[in-house]
Formats: sequence, C-alpha cells, structure tokens
Amino acid sequence: MPVVVLVSGSGTNLQALIDASQGNATPWQIVAVGADRPGIAGLERAESAGIPTFVCPVKDYPQRSEWDTALADHLMNALPEAHDGRRWVVSAGFMKVLGTTVLNEFTVLNTHPALLPAFPGAHGVRDAMAYGAKVTGATLHFVDEGVDTGPIVSQRIVAINDDDTEDSLHERIKVAERDMLVRGLTSLLSTGFTLSDRKVTLL
Ligand code: GAR
Repeated sequence: MPVVVLVSGSGTNLQALIDASQGNATPWQIVAVGADRPGIAGLERAESAGIPTFVCPVKDYPQRSEWDTALADHLMNALPEAHDGRRWVVSAGFMKVLGTTVLNEFTVLNTHPALLPAFPGAHGVRDAMAYGAKVTGATLHFVDEGVDTGPIVSQRIVAINDDDTEDSLHERIKVAERDMLVRGLTSLLSTGFTLSDRKVTLL
C-alpha cells in the first residue's frame, strides 16, 4: 500500500515509519515525503533512506486555496491508489491545516501530541501543561476540515510529571506517539476498518 508522509520539522515520526518499513514486511511503503518548507531534518531523513521528496511552501502561492491545489497535485503525482481504492497520506508533524482539495482526494491520517479532543492546535503539549492536566498523550486520527477534529483511530496516555518542561514532556509523548503511529497505520492498512458515526473499528 503506497503512502506519502508530510512533515514540517525534525521528522522523528517519519523516521519511525521508515525504520518499520525497512525492518519488517509492513503492508505499506513510503513512496514520497512532502514538506511545506525546505531545509528541514525530515527531508534529510527521507533522502538518506532514498525516498523521493517534494516541497510545497504556502508562501509560494497568493491564495491558500492555490496552495491546497498545488499540494494535491504533488500528492497525486507521487501517490497511486492503494488496493482499497484510497490514496493514503500521513501527516506526521505537518504544521499546516489541509484544505478541501486535498481532503476530497486523499485519506489523511494525523498524529497529534495530546489526547483529543483536549488541546487541539499547534501547541498541544504546552496547552496541556498550562491547563494543569495530570495526563496527556498522543492521538492518531483521520483528518477532516476542522483542526484536529477528525475520527480517532488510536490514543496513548502519558503522565505529566511535576518537574516536566514542555520539551521533556514532548519527548516522552513522542516515544509513545511513534509506536502508536506505526502500529495504527499497519493495522488500518492490513486488516482494513469501518468508520461509522465517528467510530473507527479495525476489522
Ligand atoms: C509530533 O509530536 C506531532 O504530533 C506534532 O509535531 C511533532 C513532530 O515531531 N504535531 C503537531 O503538533 C500537529 N498539531 P517529529 O517532527 O519529530 O515527528
């Protein structure tokens, strides 16, 4: 099953996917990695693994909708249909909200560093700490038109310690998140799933 991974930064979730696909017979293969900015570690990780890359920066387009169309074109060029008839995209630390052109054509999974629906958005780790939550975690979900509002596939709980900094907590979340992402993607693409009334059920 071909998959494109979208990244914006360090790409450790991408690396976990690369490692899993190289070490085992995963039912999916990363056929390309896309980014919204050049020069990031995530792109270097892809290049080191011999995976084709593309960059599609928002600032190159006068309208957000034009960026959305350009990103859809990049994805379409890189990504054939899988045997379930879907085109699978994984947003792994991709810090842009996707538009309807992309969402109409592609099945997009996103990993988020909080227990949704709590603490959506770009600062999920910081917001959970600032709220005084005692636990937080990671969520794998399908992407819809909202910000981190799509149907949930899988979640992991991570305790917040009194002496945590945003960085120390985020690092612990990312350990759980990487395992959640690899296992969740593998389950969805090997056995299939149903989606009804927001509820995702693995078959
Ligand atoms: C991950 O924790 C991911 O959940 C988060 O960015 C990090 C990327 O790490 N994404 C968001 O906050 C999206 N709202 P990585 O680049 O090392 O994979």
